[in-house]
Amino acid sequence: MSGSNQDFSPKDWIGQSAIVDLGPTIEGVEVWGEETNQAFRKTLFDWYDKEGRHLPWRESKDPYRIWISEIMLQQTQVNTVIPYYQRFLQAFPTVEDLAAAEEDDLLKLWAGLGYYSRAKNLHRAAQEIVNDYSGQFPQTAKELKQLSGIGPYTAGAIASIAFGQAVPAIDGNAMRVFSRLFTINADISRQKNHAIFREVVAYVMGDERPGDFNQALMDLGSSYETAKKPLSDISPIKDFNLATLTGTELDYPVKLSKTKSKTIHYQALLLENSQGQYLIEKRPSQGLLANLWTVPLFEVANQEEGDQQGGEERQPYQNLVAEAEAVYDLRPVVMKKSIGHVRHVFSHRLWEIDLYYAKLSPAAEKRWQDQEDSDWVFLHDLNRHAYPTVQMKIWQALKDYLDQ
Ligand code: ADE
Repeated sequence: MSGSNQDFSPKDWIGQSAIVDLGPTIEGVEVWGEETNQAFRKTLFDWYDKEGRHLPWRESKDPYRIWISEIMLQQTQVNTVIPYYQRFLQAFPTVEDLAAAEEDDLLKLWAGLGYYSRAKNLHRAAQEIVNDYSGQFPQTAKELKQLSGIGPYTAGAIASIAFGQAVPAIDGNAMRVFSRLFTINADISRQKNHAIFREVVAYVMGDERPGDFNQALMDLGSSYETAKKPLSDISPIKDFNLATLTGTELDYPVKLSKTKSKTIHYQALLLENSQGQYLIEKRPSQGLLANLWTVPLFEVANQEEGDQQGGEERQPYQNLVAEAEAVYDLRPVVMKKSIGHVRHVFSHRLWEIDLYYAKLSPAAEKRWQDQEDSDWVFLHDLNRHAYPTVQMKIWQALKDYLDQ
């Protein structure tokens, strides 16, 4: 069975709502006729023209700017993105500047936004555009999807906003708004169901102002049509909305499987040398937080989940001393009690980090040899390396501790 059956039919609301005619059934969804489509678009555009958000990336149709904004907005909220977007465009005003950038400079600008693979893909895609397309953005969603880091949503957003093509941009907002408009029961946690929304949105949007249509859905999704507290009674589209008409907004969108995040426990070694600097190291060039700098983090076997690595149970600080000895060939003087705790949520991972303060012993300091991917830094001079948000939380916790 396709998961797209509706709970209610638009036909039952003809004459009692803004729905005046019926159209075909698309992917199992009974949709409106053309007259209602047009009335819906007029309502949406009138509202968007009056109340749509004024955002920096909406001041331009430059595909480069639209692209940067859409990548930043993929996993980050609008208010957080704005200053990053502005700094980024100052540093790299054109796709050629970005293609020629040093990855480290790019990562430094990205530090704090999270999901660093986005920055690396931007870099790669900029080089693809310069090398394979002579610096000219491809204009169709199909070609855009060939570029690194651009999926169906982002391709639709760029093609519609920058090039005026009638392509939907299906993100959580669009699915929330449309699942309510038509009470669509398809489970949006299943990627394959997104095609239902692509077809239905493409049908309703027609080909006038596709970029504005897509962005109006985003604005509706973050104002009147939020997940938990929709403002149904005053929403500009309430008379079209089957879920509002039937009082079922909170049932949509249908989201069945929630992936549970895995918890990983770490001990962080805040190791100070005799000059008052702290040891940091660069993470490997592959995997989570690749190429970013953190203090040494040692993963602790998770006792609750029964995946202890065997061997005797160690006290936390003993574990840390032993790890430091194994990895760095040094015996730091570690405080027995943790000085603080940091937790950080990644998309499917939760890091719980206990922080331990330690001094490098004079003997160890004498023997210490700088390694390529490690460095010593002062707390008052943290601008020379790119740190992920989780490390910024660790620095803050250390400062709080020292300020006590
Ligand atoms: N989220 C993703 N793209 C957006 C856009 N263009 N405007 C506002 N929010 C967005």
